Amino acid sequence: MSVSERTYIMIKPDGVQRGLVGEIIKRFETRGFKLIALKLVHATPEHLEKHYADLKGKGFFPGLIKYMASGPVVAMVWQGLDAVKTGRVMLGATNPLASSPGTIRGDYALSVGRNICHGSDSVENAEKEISLWFPEGIVQYTHNQAIWVF
Ligand code: TYD
Repeated sequence: MSVSERTYIMIKPDGVQRGLVGEIIKRFETRGFKLIALKLVHATPEHLEKHYADLKGKGFFPGLIKYMASGPVVAMVWQGLDAVKTGRVMLGATNPLASSPGTIRGDYALSVGRNICHGSDSVENAEKEISLWFPEGIVQYTHNQAIWVF
C-alpha cells in the first residue's frame, strides 16, 4: 500500500458504447485518485491475448477476446493510496449479479461476459498491464495551483 500505487483501469467496449466513460472517470476522480494516463484504443486480438494470457485455455477465452476486440476501449492509469484494491472494490465482483449496488458493475451491468470495466488484481499485475498498454510511458505531473488559478 502506498500513496503512489498505480492501477490499470479499462473501460471495455460495452462501457464505451453505452456512454459510461464519463461516469466511470468521475467515480475515480471524485474518490480522490489521480489520472496519470488515458487513451482510446481499438486493440487487436493479439494484444488482448497478452493482456488476458492467464485465462488462455478457459472456455470463455475466445468469446472474451472477440468482445474486447469489437470496439475501442478506454485505457487508463489511476494513482493513489491503495489504488489496486480500492479500484477493485469500486468495480465490484467479476459477475455483476454478485456486485453490490454502489459499485460500477453493481450499478450498470448484468452479465459476466459484458461487465463494462477491468481493474488490475495485484500491484504486480498492474505494473505489467501498464507496460503492456502504455509502452510509450506515462506523463509525470504534480497538482500545481499556479496552472489553473490565474
Ligand atoms: P477475471 O480476470 O477472472 O475477472 P476480473 O475481470 O474481475 O479480474 O476474468 C476476466 C474477464 O473474463 C471478466 O471480467 C469477464 C470474463 N469472464 C467471462 O466472460 N466468463 C467467466 O466465467 C469469467 C470468470 C470471466
